[in-house]
Amino acid sequence: MSIRVLTGIKPTGTPHLGNYVGAIRPAIAASLDPGIESYYFLADYHALAGSADAERVHRSTLEVAASWLAAGLDPARVHFYRQSDLPEVTELTWLLSCVTAKGLLNRAHAYKAAVDVNLAAGLDADHGIAMGLYLYPVLMAADILMFNAHRVPVGRDQIQHIEIARDLAQRFNHLHGGDYFTLPEAAIEEHTAVLPGLDGRKMSKSYDNVIPLWGSSKALRASILAMVTNSQAPGEPKDPQSSSLFQLYQAFASAAETEALRQAYADGIAWGDAKQRVYERLDAELSPARERYISLVTRPQEIESILQAGAQRLRPQARALLDRLRDAVGLRSLNRLQAPAAAPKAAKKAKLPRFVQFKEPDGKLNFKFFAASGELLLTGVGYADARASSAAMTALRADDALQLQGVEVLIDGSAVAVLAAAPEQAAAGFAAVGAALAELAAADSE
Ligand code: TRP
Repeated sequence: MSIRVLTGIKPTGTPHLGNYVGAIRPAIAASLDPGIESYYFLADYHALAGSADAERVHRSTLEVAASWLAAGLDPARVHFYRQSDLPEVTELTWLLSCVTAKGLLNRAHAYKAAVDVNLAAGLDADHGIAMGLYLYPVLMAADILMFNAHRVPVGRDQIQHIEIARDLAQRFNHLHGGDYFTLPEAAIEEHTAVLPGLDGRKMSKSYDNVIPLWGSSKALRASILAMVTNSQAPGEPKDPQSSSLFQLYQAFASAAETEALRQAYADGIAWGDAKQRVYERLDAELSPARERYISLVTRPQEIESILQAGAQRLRPQARALLDRLRDAVGLRSLNRLQAPAAAPKAAKKAKLPRFVQFKEPDGKLNFKFFAASGELLLTGVGYADARASSAAMTALRADDALQLQGVEVLIDGSAVAVLAAAPEQAAAGFAAVGAALAELAAADSE
């Protein structure tokens, strides 16, 4: 059996070199392994949780999809799709929400961080927090569990989300008594290079230090020339370890090339020359992909049809799982209920008429007799103790010669109970008592 690997890519911006080295390139390399079935998708529902900027989501969906295709993702061997093209994902999200403890989501990092910001600002804890953010982990669990992924490659910040997905899978399986979901595992790639940005810190949109992935050769060169270095002069030996320029090179170069640059550093290469070398190496890898990218973004219809085809291919599988889940939770066709088979069960469970004993304010014991519907039929006449009260009830149940006088029910000429019915309805009330007693007797003899 092949291992299913699944990961979502949030379309929230223009891809940069860090995304390429940290996510796109390793994911595409992994997808070439014949023992792996890959599911890579654009998590556009997730993108909505953080932004109301429709144009940005639209544009970014195009750019991110084109980036993956340009970088070599083969949609014929990888399931490549857009989350929102699978309505089954939202359906599953609801089923999972119904087994999600609210407290579990209260403890989710992203939500807690937003609450902390509010509290620090003296605001209400939930100020400005949308349910989309709150339910984000459940939607993500639906992505993963929908295809029973074994492995989910993510960054460290996403580990808790995978744990939540495991939790929900386990809970659903347990509550509904079946192996509906596979428990996914987070796959944290320890060896993937963390790319330094222009200022030497980790390349990240939030630090505003990124090098765009698909800028022109000229722009790429300008970015690399702008990278921070120290002030060592040409001829001075330089330390590769502390050089972010060197780390950038290493993320693209072979071991032999990296060794050669290490030697050049030791030999005192000028920063300008080193930068030129790094630029040339990166541009050699990126420029063929850049050409594909440019050609792809000018043909959005082609990308659209690749994504549509990816989703269509998966929908039968998603539907089949959902049909099982719907059945498990009780969303079933009524055609499957067969009246004759169901009837005896229903009769058994139906309520019966009943006697209820109670104490009067004056200390006497008494009883009431109710129909199966809950309607009061009779009240006893009050008895000295529990034994006398029980004897009256037993007599009522046993005697098949009850008499009616006014609204009083007599046994052997003496009143044991009074009808709840008004005097003018006494006959009907008495008949109802008879019917209820017969019902009890029938249930007893079953
Ligand atoms: N939350 C992920 C991120 O921000 C994106 C994502 C959505 C995802 N659904 C997923 C990742 C399912 C892995 C599996 O990066």
